[in-house]
Amino acid sequence: MTFLPNLFSPIKIKTLELANRAVMPPMGTNLGNADATVSEANLAYLKRRARGGAGMIITEISSVHPNGSAINSELGAYDDRFIPGLKKLADVAHAAGSKTALQLHHAGRESFYLLKQGKAIAPSPIRSLVFGLTPREITREEIQEIIAAFGAAAFRAREAGFDAVEVHGAHGYLLTQFLSALSNQRQDEYGGSLSNRSRFIVEVLQEVRRRVGSDFPISLRLSVEECIKGGYTIEEIQSILPNLVKAGADVIHASLGTHGSPGGITSAPAEYEPGFNVWRAKKVKEVVGVPVIAVGRFSDPALADAVIGRGEADLVAFGRQFLADPDFLLKAREGRPEEIRKCLACNQGCIERLILGEGNIRCAINPETGQEIIYPKGPAAKPRKVWVVGAGPGGLTAAYEGARLGHNVTLYEKEEIPGGQLRFACKPPCKSNYGEWSDWLISQVKKMGITVHTSTTVTERMIEDGNPDALILAVGGEIIRPAIAGIDLPMVCDAWQILSGEVAPRKNAVVIGGGLIGMETADFLCEKGAQVTIVETLKRSPVLKITSHGYMLHKRLKDRNCQLHFNTEVKIIAEGSVIIVSEGREQVLSPVDQVVIAAGLKPRDDFQQFLQARGISHFVIGDARQPRRIIESTEEGARAAWDL
Ligand SMILES: Cc1cc2nc3c(=O)[nH]c(=O)nc-3n(C[C@H](O)[C@H](O)[C@H](O)COP(=O)(O)O)c2cc1C
Repeated sequence: MTFLPNLFSPIKIKTLELANRAVMPPMGTNLGNADATVSEANLAYLKRRARGGAGMIITEISSVHPNGSAINSELGAYDDRFIPGLKKLADVAHAAGSKTALQLHHAGRESFYLLKQGKAIAPSPIRSLVFGLTPREITREEIQEIIAAFGAAAFRAREAGFDAVEVHGAHGYLLTQFLSALSNQRQDEYGGSLSNRSRFIVEVLQEVRRRVGSDFPISLRLSVEECIKGGYTIEEIQSILPNLVKAGADVIHASLGTHGSPGGITSAPAEYEPGFNVWRAKKVKEVVGVPVIAVGRFSDPALADAVIGRGEADLVAFGRQFLADPDFLLKAREGRPEEIRKCLACNQGCIERLILGEGNIRCAINPETGQEIIYPKGPAAKPRKVWVVGAGPGGLTAAYEGARLGHNVTLYEKEEIPGGQLRFACKPPCKSNYGEWSDWLISQVKKMGITVHTSTTVTERMIEDGNPDALILAVGGEIIRPAIAGIDLPMVCDAWQILSGEVAPRKNAVVIGGGLIGMETADFLCEKGAQVTIVETLKRSPVLKITSHGYMLHKRLKDRNCQLHFNTEVKIIAEGSVIIVSEGREQVLSPVDQVVIAAGLKPRDDFQQFLQARGISHFVIGDARQPRRIIESTEEGARAAWDL
């Protein structure tokens, strides 16, 4: 039986035949060598994904010019010395049966390190929306130099064995900067009218075509709508697309937005429905005859199959899904869709980690991603008897990884239902996928044959009797109850009681704590119709608006008229009111019929002294070590299992 016949049908781009219509779109990894050459880590990362069987893999941004890298270790395509490394990348894709395109990139003003050195160039000296610094205006001679550099880099891609190239005209980089009237205020023939602003892209395509020859496919990745106030529209792009095809584009990869668009829409958060951007691909198809790639929050191959079946797009790109589960296409193809680990669109390990300069690519729910080189294959040289205490995301990951490596793992959970914090994290708006991930983790742990004891509180006696070789303590954090007058009144509860449904929301609520849990609980309460005030002692919100989820959360709370008081403490809770203090000034909040504590968690040290005294090997992970995000829990859980 053939599953998903539309997705898994071949397609031709010019003379290039792709085995199926699934595309792995370009994703910067930050794994390259410091000299911009391809590293072993790049190859291992790509090899792992190529096994997944995409028809086409478009490799990550590769700079066509030394002054065009977004980060200084971005892969280079601006010199012949890069060809041997690029060839290895192409070989990795080919060995797995995929076709591959090299993405050609110039960052323009969106390069923090070049901006800081005063070397970033752009059509006009207009401040980067991402980094807040101003680039230098590119000269007409430099325009010709960069156009030639795109052509030369495309030629190198062909030399290196790539089957195609992709010109990066999306996401606010140099080509988009020319296209957008917000960043292009030139007075010459490259500025002004839309036709003039698109001239740079046209000339880049023409030069690439001249250098690669008539038979070599060129994909144009375009943000087909800028998704920013005053930015260009999809209708404007429709009017120039035929000309871009004429200039050389054989495929249009219909992305959207820039890194400066509010809410991180280029790698959209879970607020956006899977496939939310398909309508734009459809609009592109209305005006061009070449194949069109749809992209945006695809994690379900069945949805991609339906989109292709309805003729809304010819191919579908799965970006972050390839980070969450590189085998998802195989699972779909073999009729095992329930085994797919679906991307949460949380962006913690991928795009935001890169943009915030936190390190190389990772995935919050797949500890292998970005660590392929060190990821142990198993089996462990010495299988050990391991107890994992706590079945939250860290504990479940630790148990799974331990069993995968051949250890004899038993998992203990004091609650009736495993999942830990995920049982609550999935309740606020737009977070139900956390519940699905929790169910997936539990199913995988069971499938691994791990014995799971729920409703079981581990004791020192049990450890003595059971005599495990090692324990992984994933016992979670302890709820902080601030010492405030009135905290024991019946109107006071905590965020977990609200999210679990144990305590029903009331009309006028004060949430103590404006961290992620506080804000998400407020979001939950607002959705239920409550009027909510958040009180937070920190001067600024710890939930950053530059993260996509943070932006969405702040926006939703603002739209729902939630009041936020920073640099403020709750002094007294009384029946019907709360007194808050900010910089010595008191204010009475009234009416208040519910106070919700969300002041965070603190680490727990259960069993640690006992285990240390007896010399029993143990690891403390996740919130038990220090309450943080999901990515830290899963990372520590996996590492503990690898280090057993
Ligand atoms: C870690 C990361 C790096 C990315 N790097 C690139 C890139 O190099 N070039 C590009 O055109 N898009 C890049 N993108 C955008 C993706 O190709 C894709 O368009 C986006 O993530 C939306 O698709 P998805 O919802 O399937 O993830 C990147 C996205 C992520 C998550």
